[in-house]
Order: sequence, then structure tokens, then C-alpha cells
Amino acid sequence: MAVDLLLGLQWGDEGKGKIVDVLTKNYDIIARFQGGPNAGHTLEFDGIKHVLHTIPSGIFHDNTINLVGNGVVIDPVIFRKELESLSKYGIDLKKNLVVSRKAHLILPTHRLLDAASEASKGKAKIGSTLKGIGPTYMDKTGRNGIRVGDLEMKDWKKKYRALANKHVSMIDFYHSEIEFDLSELETEFFEALEILQSYTFIDSEEFLHQAQKEGKTILAEGAQGSLLDIDFGTYPYVTSSNTTAAGACTGLGVSPSRINEVFGIFKAYTTRVGSGPFPTELFDSYGETMGRVGNEFGATTGRPRRCGWLDLVALKYAVQINGVTQLMMMKGDVLSGFDKLKVCTSYKYKGKVIEHLPYNIEEENVTPIYTEMKGWKDDLTTMTDASQIPQTLNDYISFLEKELEVPIKIVSVGPDRTQTIHR
Ligand code: GDP
Ligand code: IMO
Ligand code: MG
Repeated sequence: MAVDLLLGLQWGDEGKGKIVDVLTKNYDIIARFQGGPNAGHTLEFDGIKHVLHTIPSGIFHDNTINLVGNGVVIDPVIFRKELESLSKYGIDLKKNLVVSRKAHLILPTHRLLDAASEASKGKAKIGSTLKGIGPTYMDKTGRNGIRVGDLEMKDWKKKYRALANKHVSMIDFYHSEIEFDLSELETEFFEALEILQSYTFIDSEEFLHQAQKEGKTILAEGAQGSLLDIDFGTYPYVTSSNTTAAGACTGLGVSPSRINEVFGIFKAYTTRVGSGPFPTELFDSYGETMGRVGNEFGATTGRPRRCGWLDLVALKYAVQINGVTQLMMMKGDVLSGFDKLKVCTSYKYKGKVIEHLPYNIEEENVTPIYTEMKGWKDDLTTMTDASQIPQTLNDYISFLEKELEVPIKIVSVGPDRTQTIHR
């Protein structure tokens, strides 16, 4: 059986958690392929809101295996907190959650290094979530990292100590003001590791290979968004992993020839949290309304998200890079009542009109050119069927489908599982 793939097309927080939860009934396995606790994936049902960071968003379904893939970086302390917050829901976590031996561990000193590095950058800081993501992936590619599978080896603590000592001298190098008590952090870390070690570690590429042979259905869950991709995002204001479709192959050990559907998720407008260019960003009452009505605050850090109009130049780029086969449009309900909507369809770039994303999208180089559309007045949040979608929203959807050349199969009209229209 082939593997389907779901990923974000903007700067993250598109609503991946909600849609993975909605789709999980169709899958035997949900597999996270990259990122770590910088992600915050929100799911809502039965009046309860859940936020997941490392654990895949299929965890609330009894008969689904949730796999944390080799491409993910795991902070045992945050993993433990996630497990604790799930403990009251009667989920058989020991049966339904498995972890790749090849996933890398975020150490307490990775978090400290993240903070020291960001502090040293001053105004040029990335706006990292400070979860230690960058330093952990640096140790992975630098071939110094500690992997989940190392915990099964006798001498891993020696390796840990050498790496942690090196990190401490690197923190000194930054001359940072950050204060820390490493022994306290390590106590918490080692306690959390014991909990992590009570879960099943697997050779996940083999597990997924066998599952495919047995005809099991698999959905790969992405984190962050395509514009935060280490290669194709707005570098250096990006995360440290491949968030795009190729990341699912390396992050799970699945061949490109086995990928079937690529579900691309986007908001009906755009948000970004952290630093970096954002051509369609709004600083007026439209942006303020998007933030307020859309409750645009980071699920991991609580920071307000920057808001702006939909950017089709950037979205087309993401659709192309990922080979998206189906689109899902989220949060159309947030735009209800807007007297007008704008969609950026090209950029004025160094005096010329262009329709592709150029190397540099800093404010001084790029002016967005907009197509203006009519807004919809109707409250969408109670709608459950495509026949109820108002004409103005259908016009908006048709316009996007024509521009992007991919069908929009799901329109989400609220945070709850049930507020989902299939087209
Ligand atoms: P993720 O990181 O892609 O999983 O997205 P987040 O969970 O960080 O952010 C999406 C936010 O929007 C969450 O608070 C969701 O509950 C919420 N959400 C998802 N879909 C919709 C929608 O269609 N309408 C509204 N109003 N909220 C939504
Ligand atoms: P989900 O999966 C939105 C952003 C940070 C920062 C940059 C680098 O919930 O969509 P990092 O901590 O990786 O060093 O931060 O990336 N960022 C996200 N923004 N959603 C996310 O994840 C993000 N994960 C990281 O704000 O700008
Ligand atoms: Mg999020």
C-alpha cells in the first residue's frame, strides 16, 4: 500500500493537527517525519482542546499506531509532559505509540545553546521557539548526536557527558547572560528518559516497509510549513529540517515511489510567528481582525502570530515543491464579515512584475500585487455540507483552484473535528 503525506504550505500552524485527526479513521499508521517540540498541533473535539508537540495527531483513535519517525528530534522532558496530559483519556499509549531508534534526542544543553545563539544574534534573531531544534539537528548532521537507539547501549552516558561538556564550553563562547543549573536540568532529563524508555523503540523503516507489504494504510504527518523548510524556506528565518515532501522520505525511510496523495494545507489568509520576511503582512484593522477572530497565538510559545492576506505566489511555490495532489483550506470562517478580501497574485520585484518566488523576498525588494475579491458575510461555523457554502466563498475557492491547478477537497470552518466540509 502507498503512503499518503500531509504537510503545511505556509509558515506553519495551518491546521495540520486538526486535519490529521479528521483523516486518521482512514489510516492504520500515522507517522511524524520531522521537527520536534517546536511544533504545536491542535485538535479539538467533544469540547476539549488538545495540543501535541511530538506525538502524532492520530493518538486519539484506538486502532491506529502512532509512530515518531527517525527524522524527528525528541525532548524527553516535553514528551513526558505530553504523555501526562494524555493520561486521563484512557488511551492505550503503550500499544499505540512507538518511537524510531534513529530519532535524535534533544539534550538540556541543546536548549541552552539555542537560547545563547539567539541572544547573540540580537535584532537578527530567528525567533526560534527555543526548544533546542537547531543545535540538535546541527549535532545530527555533524555526526555527534545521541539517538534513541543509543539508550539501549551500555556506554551511551559517556557519550552524553562528552557532548554536554562540549556544549557548556560552546555556551561560554557565546558570552551569553543566560543562567542555568545544569544538574537540575539533568535530573529532570534523566527522569524523563526513564519514561521514554518504557515505550517501544523500533527500527521504524523496517516497520513501515512491512506495514506497506501487509497492505496497511499510512499517513505521514509533517510539522512546520514549506516556507520554513531548511532548503526552500525563507532562509535563514527557517527551521532546521526539511518540512517539504522529500522530508517524509528521509524522515521515515519511505521511497519517493511509494508516496501517493500529497495533502497540502493552507489557511485562507497567511500567518507567521517569529522573524523573517512576510510580503503580505498587514498592520491595519484587517490583520488585527484575523489575529483576534482567528485566535492567532502560537500553540507552543503563546506568541502572537503575524497576519496577512493570502499569498498565491508563495503558495504556488509550495504546491510545486511538494507536488501537492489535494488542497485543504482552513479558517475561512475567520474571514466572515470582511467587506473585501485581497489575494496576492504577483510581486513587483526590482521594477518588474513576477509570478514566482524570488531568492530574496525582503520588504525592500518585493511589493505584493493584489486581486481584490468580495468577502462573505455568512457564519460558516455551523456548516457541514458543501451545498451550504455561500457563493462568494465558492468564488474564492474556484479562483484559488484555477490559480493553483489543484482541487480544494476540504474546507475547514472551525477548530472542531466536526467543522469540516468535504468537497
Ligand atoms: P498546526 O500546527 O498546523 O497543527 O496548527 P496549530 O494547531 O498550531 O494552529 C491552528 C489553530 O487554528 C488551532 O488553534 C486550531 O484549533 C485552529 N483551527 C484549525 N482549523 C480551523 C478552522 O477552520 N477555523 C478556525 N477558526 N480555527 C481553526
Ligand atoms: P507547527 O508544526 C509555526 C518557527 C519559529 C521560528 C522558526 C525557527 O506547529 O506548524 P525553531 O524553533 O524551529 O528553531 O524556530 O520556525 N516555527 C514554527 N512556526 N509553526 C511551527 O510548527 C513552527 N516551528 C517552528 O517561530 O520562526
Ligand atoms: Mg502549530
